[in-house]
Amino acid sequence: MKVSIIGGGGLVGSCAGFALQCGGIAREIALIDVNAELAAGQALDLLHGTPSVADQRITSGSYEHIPSSDIVCITAGLRRKPDETRLDLINRNTDLFVQICRDVRAAGLKPSAKVLVVSNPVDILTYVAAQTLDLPTNQILGLGTQLDTIRFCSLIADQIGAPPTQVRALILGEHGDSMVPIWSSATVAGLPLEKHPGWNHQLANQIFQRTKGSGAEVISKKGGAGFAVGIAIRDVLDAIMLDQRRILPVSSVQDGCYGIRDVALSVPTVVGAEGVLDRLEIDLWPKEVQGLRRSAAALRPTLTSVLQRIGL
Ligand code: 2OP
Repeated sequence: MKVSIIGGGGLVGSCAGFALQCGGIAREIALIDVNAELAAGQALDLLHGTPSVADQRITSGSYEHIPSSDIVCITAGLRRKPDETRLDLINRNTDLFVQICRDVRAAGLKPSAKVLVVSNPVDILTYVAAQTLDLPTNQILGLGTQLDTIRFCSLIADQIGAPPTQVRALILGEHGDSMVPIWSSATVAGLPLEKHPGWNHQLANQIFQRTKGSGAEVISKKGGAGFAVGIAIRDVLDAIMLDQRRILPVSSVQDGCYGIRDVALSVPTVVGAEGVLDRLEIDLWPKEVQGLRRSAAALRPTLTSVLQRIGL
């Protein structure tokens, strides 16, 4: 499959390109960026590594790549300042994002193409993409809380000295301040996290707060996240390219799961070749369901004003 990354010259887009290259699944990776020279440099740097990784075609360019793309990943956008919320970013990013969607639509997408939105605020922009692009809604996904989930698992594992690949702890809801930790199903090696030696409520809260602040923490230290975002993007794109039907916490326009509709946020979502195959309303603690609904409520005012602003 061919993956085109809009914003491929930037930190997130180039890290996504590198993660896809190392994964070896994508047949072709095209980096698209308004800074064509930067995208060409990133593509050349990736190309130099191909003999040791996989027989992939790595290119750069503009929207001429869109009609032949099986997946379009949109990472372009301005990055938050350390003290800025993702929702604050919306006014600066909406116009840019809407123009990108219009350019993608004008270039022409394959009817089977899937679009993964990464640009922030990702839940708002996932909804905008679903309204703007001529694709079935199930073919439009947002990275959502997949990034938060792997951050959450990494920090738990680091804290208790467990293998990170054996920690399973979900974050759902908004990729933002109202994200929800799902303790009810958190496990280490298949065993309840809450029973793990040394685990306690205070530690749980500390780790969730650090997870929630991880984006800002990385921004303050190095200007913006890239590596883990690239890995999270690869998790989702591999599920599509390999038709894995993995259950992932990704964002999509909701149509009733946990009683939530007409807003995009992350719930347990079956991801495969067709994009969103299903959403699973798996039993959560009542306070976790309330948290999800609070997430939807937190997103709705901004979504309403954005849709009014762009005339949708
Ligand atoms: C983050 O949390 C870029 O939103 C992304 O770092």
